Amino acid sequence: MTIRARVRVAEGMLLAEGIEMRAAVFFATRESHTGRIAARIATDLRAHGAEVDVFDVRTDTPLEWSRYAAACVAASVHAGHHEPEMIAFVRRYRAELDRLSAGFVSVTLSEAGAEDPTRSSAERERAAADVRRMIDVFVTDTGWRPARCLPVAGALAYSKYNFFVRFIMKRIARKAGAPTDTSRDYEFTNWQALDRFVEQLAVKTP
Ligand SMILES: Cc1cc2nc3c(=O)[nH]c(=O)nc-3n(C[C@H](O)[C@H](O)[C@H](O)COP(=O)(O)O)c2cc1C
Repeated sequence: MTIRARVRVAEGMLLAEGIEMRAAVFFATRESHTGRIAARIATDLRAHGAEVDVFDVRTDTPLEWSRYAAACVAASVHAGHHEPEMIAFVRRYRAELDRLSAGFVSVTLSEAGAEDPTRSSAERERAAADVRRMIDVFVTDTGWRPARCLPVAGALAYSKYNFFVRFIMKRIARKAGAPTDTSRDYEFTNWQALDRFVEQLAVKTP
């Protein structure tokens, strides 16, 4: 079922007037945090009156692009690269994502360092440069330059790592000034910043 987006003029923003909006959220994840981010994006879009379908690009079947008026892509980074299935997906559907002016959410631990107020400005800038480089690599790998892009701090999911990965991640965390107590998991995502980003995606000017 498709519902009508509400007419709303607020703080200078004009939301889609009488336009039926259906949105697609595509995500790729390894330890599931980006799945939670995709669910939040969907909730936010629904709050703006859109019907939303969420796709895990690793497992979900191809879709009918003509049904959608908006889209958002979210992928996490492992070993310097966004998930390979997302790179393949975006390469394949670049034209459709361009048509929908899709947003891109890049999920990394480096962004947690870039946002951490307890770190020096030099450390934060180094982390931010890492984030930019990983997004640039994604743009080069896919040929897709998203209309809007948001770097998002991910999680340290120690409970989900095997012994070897936990060992490596603890070493990376120590170097990065992130938590090293592996008896619990940590989440660094700024959910309000994500909500604001989705608000911009939901805004359709005529
Ligand atoms: C094996 C491994 C490699 C990672 N490599 C990077 C990296 O190169 N750069 C980075 O910023 N974050 C890195 N991360 C952190 C992940 O991007 C972060 O944990 C993210 O929240 C994972 O999202 P997901 O649960 O959706 O897969 C790595 C995490 C793991 C477990």
